[in-house]
Amino acid sequence: MEDNISDKLELVRQKCLHCNKCSLCQTRTNIVFSGGVPNPKLMLIGEAPGYYEDQKGVPFVGKAGQLLDKILGCVGFSRERDIYICNTLKCRPPENRDPLPEEKAACREYLDAQVELLKPRIILLCGRVAVNSFIDTKLGITKLRGKWFEGPYYSKMMPIFHPSYLLRNDSREKGSPKWQMWQDIKEVRRVYDQLS
Ligand code: URA
Repeated sequence: MEDNISDKLELVRQKCLHCNKCSLCQTRTNIVFSGGVPNPKLMLIGEAPGYYEDQKGVPFVGKAGQLLDKILGCVGFSRERDIYICNTLKCRPPENRDPLPEEKAACREYLDAQVELLKPRIILLCGRVAVNSFIDTKLGITKLRGKWFEGPYYSKMMPIFHPSYLLRNDSREKGSPKWQMWQDIKEVRRVYDQLS
C-alpha cells in the first residue's frame, strides 16, 4: 500500500471531520470514516453507522459487526490485514433509520473519494442501501447476492447480505440466508486468491 494513498485518504477524513453538508452533523458523536486497512484488493461498503459505531468512530463494531468479523474470519480475512471497511454515510442517522436521499447525496463525495483512491479490485456491497448506491436495479438483495457486477475502476462488485439481516435469520440450513452468505464469502475468497 502506497503511503501516498493513506495520506490522501487521511486528507479526505480530515475534511469529513468538519463536514456539515447535511443535518446529521448536528446529531453525530463521531464521524465513522473507515475501518480495517487500506488494502487495494478488498473493500466492503455498508449502510451507515449505528449507535456503537457513532460512539467509537469505527464501522461495524456492534453485534452486526461482530458477526461480520466472524464471517470474514471463516475464510481467513481479518480487518487488521485484508479489508478496508466503510459506509455510504459517515454519520449515524437518528434511531438508525434509513439514510435519506439528500444525506446519501451529501456524503457521496467521501465514498467516491475512498473508492477512487483505493481502486479496490473487489467491492462487497453489504445490504440494500449499499447495493442501491452502485447498482441501478429494482431487484432485491436476495436476487442479487452472490453475483458479480462490474464496478468502478474495473473492480468486481458483489452484493452480500447485511449481517443484521443474518442476525434476524438464525437458521444455518442449506438454502438459508446464513448458508447463502457462506457460499458468497467462499466465492469472494476464491476470486481474491486469484488476484495478481
Ligand atoms: N451497519 C452498517 O451498515 N454499518 C456499520 O458501520 C454498522 C452497522
